[in-house]
Amino acid sequence: MLKPPYTRYDQLHVYNFDTIDIGPIDDPDLIGTWIEDETAILFFHKDKRKLVKRICTQSGATVLYEAKLNYQDWEAGLDITSFSVPPLVVSPLWEEHLLEEQTHGKEKKTEVNNAKQIPIRLDPSVIFGSGFHPTTRLCLQTIADIMCSNASSIKTMVDLGTGTGLLSLGAAKLGVGQIRSYDNNPFACSVAKRNVELNKCEDRINVLEADLRAALPDTRVDLLVANLYKGLLLDFFSNPDFWNAKYYIISGFIPSMEKDLLAALPMKNLKLLERRKSDTWRLWLLGNSSVL
Ligand SMILES: C[S@@+](CC[C@H](N)C(=O)[O-])C[C@H]1O[C@@H](n2cnc3c(N)ncnc32)[C@H](O)[C@@H]1O
Repeated sequence: MLKPPYTRYDQLHVYNFDTIDIGPIDDPDLIGTWIEDETAILFFHKDKRKLVKRICTQSGATVLYEAKLNYQDWEAGLDITSFSVPPLVVSPLWEEHLLEEQTHGKEKKTEVNNAKQIPIRLDPSVIFGSGFHPTTRLCLQTIADIMCSNASSIKTMVDLGTGTGLLSLGAAKLGVGQIRSYDNNPFACSVAKRNVELNKCEDRINVLEADLRAALPDTRVDLLVANLYKGLLLDFFSNPDFWNAKYYIISGFIPSMEKDLLAALPMKNLKLLERRKSDTWRLWLLGNSSVL
């Protein structure tokens, strides 16, 4: 996450240790620690070889790999800048002055089309959900469309695999009052919580660390959003407890996966309301007639 004096991400220095037992790291240049497969991946703004050596000596850990890359390369070669999914305007923290100029820090009606612009401030950090992956953008667009046409019937939501929390923020800003946002990556949860605070949505969004493979949360909500991957989606589809929501936004898959996913849907009460695409990615909007 961005902490003073840093106001943006530039160079990323990444160190992957072979264990998570490396002790507490209190360093002003630390962006965050990603825990994956019992290893710890540390992201810094600066070269930290001296610190890394000390960590190894003290903890007995070894470094599996280290890398130096530009933030742009981490983000698939893209510049993370402000973008709009009307009526939402999303700005990374290093461009929030643009948000101020556009909205004066609050919701504003533009003179051109009299439509409301709703600002979202985002620290994308090194977590999925900057808004520049096609699936995130598809999900955000679909949330905006549902909320603009159907807002009164969507009061509660779960966001399965929240990443930066952007989809939850979009929904909250468009009127969803109670949102539970889950991720199994503690670093993602910290980033999502910070983004919730930055947007003053603490009263609407509850970020929870949980492994969705181990236990499925309560799905009795108006809208369930799952931008995940095929294996986890197939697990969910075969679990009757997954099918308690009114609407589902499902994404994170490509056309070659659709046949298997479709075959796994319990079609009796489900309606495929819409199928959207962006690049090679697909999204489904499903309605559940047993609770609608
Ligand atoms: C494709 S990203 C989507 C992030 C965000 N919702 C978006 O649309 O940009 C999937 C997220 O799910 C999380 N995730 C993957 N497997 C998970 C699991 N078993 N339990 C909880 N979260 C998981 C990942 O850490 C990641 O943040």
